[in-house]
Amino acid sequence: METVKIGVIGLGQRGDQIIRDILLKMKDVEIIGVCDYYEDRVQAAADTVEKVAAKRPLCTTKHKDILNMKALDAVYIATSWETHVEIAIEALNKGIPVALEVGGAYSIQRLWEMVHAQERTTTPLMMMENCCFGKTELLGTAFVRNGLLGEVVHCHGAYRHYLADEVARGKEIRHYRLRNYLTRNCENYPTHELGPIAKVLNINRGNQMLSLVSVASKAVGMEDYITLNAEKHSDLLGKKFRQGDIINTIITCADGSTISLKLDTTLPHCYSREFTIRGTRGAYEQDANLLILHTDEHGWDPMEFYQKNWNNAAKYEQDYLPDVWKNITPEDIELGHGGMDGIEFRVFIDALKNNTEMPIDVYDAAAWMSITALSTDSIAQGGAPQAIPDFTGGLWTVRKPKDVIELPIV
Ligand SMILES: NC(=O)c1ccc[n+]([C@@H]2O[C@H](COP(=O)([O-])OP(=O)(O)OC[C@H]3O[C@@H](n4cnc5c(N)ncnc54)[C@H](O)[C@@H]3O)[C@@H](O)[C@H]2O)c1
Repeated sequence: METVKIGVIGLGQRGDQIIRDILLKMKDVEIIGVCDYYEDRVQAAADTVEKVAAKRPLCTTKHKDILNMKALDAVYIATSWETHVEIAIEALNKGIPVALEVGGAYSIQRLWEMVHAQERTTTPLMMMENCCFGKTELLGTAFVRNGLLGEVVHCHGAYRHYLADEVARGKEIRHYRLRNYLTRNCENYPTHELGPIAKVLNINRGNQMLSLVSVASKAVGMEDYITLNAEKHSDLLGKKFRQGDIINTIITCADGSTISLKLDTTLPHCYSREFTIRGTRGAYEQDANLLILHTDEHGWDPMEFYQKNWNNAAKYEQDYLPDVWKNITPEDIELGHGGMDGIEFRVFIDALKNNTEMPIDVYDAAAWMSITALSTDSIAQGGAPQAIPDFTGGLWTVRKPKDVIELPIV
């Protein structure tokens, strides 16, 4: 396969960005079909493609039309959270390779159907968790692979992204977050932080997530934001939001390590994924890009150590950063989340063309997405533990660890 002919389903913020910034810039990718419920989004995406590729893709509001295209080599699913899994199952059943955008699952049963469809048809599926390709996530993972942090005991991550305005403008921008925040209370977006952590801990490859507990704070951030911006959002005044402002989830793994996740999207703060690895010999913290080793003479004055060593991990990049990040160009950095989207799509397209294993496969997708459905139950039961299914059916005990890209071993 010289050129990968791809169909894009879901042409909102993400689908549009990936078409413009990534897919149309890849010389070995052709967009042959575009689909969205909204006709105006379909036509706008087709115009974008036609302008660059000089060929108009198939335009449709029905995802089945894309999946029925004879020439299709792969489908990229960037629809609202509610429809990802359904479309992925249909595509897999037709033997169409899937690039699946991130999001949480509403039903464990549906995840099993997705896993079984993949196993039955052996069709490749990659979850497009771009944060697994983030520079500091890979640097931290390389520290672990090189033994700098000793035995990993605990990892932490967050989706801290103040989205009150996006949520409140849900009707205007035809976005799914508004309806979800009004009606659900869960860890609704776990994979940006969990994906890289699951890779560090070799989840589904020698390790497994066994159980979780989730607890929600009260939900007052959206209501306060709407009161403060009453003129702009008068239709939402007085509406009760169900989604707690802060959701804390703790996951216990088969090897005894723990993971804490925090969803934090409706209270003011700056963006962070808070990626943190704690091991017997050291720690890595993304926010300060700080590497703390047991050999450091930091005594017991953490603030002094922080201030002195802020960004000290940059010194280690020469040895520990993978080549894709060392060689990244300023133009690449301008595209898609500081460069990681481009790296991610290159990995997907190369794996497809070379018929090699997807580095974030259906078992990872199912396990990571399951956190949303399970957290809903845990929160509803006052933080009661929920078992996390083993979607590999026991294969996690024999599957070999695999990083999303090769990391340097020094
Ligand atoms: N990886 C990232 O950094 C990143 C960033 C943003 C969004 N996302 C993910 O991308 C997805 C889309 O997010 P968004 O912000 O673009 O949302 P959006 O609401 O702007 O766009 C989603 C689009 O999907 C369409 N859609 C839904 N179901 C459909 C169906 N069955 N058939 C055809 N069209 C359908 C909607 O009409 C809408 O236009 C989400 O899963 C989100 O989690 C990922």
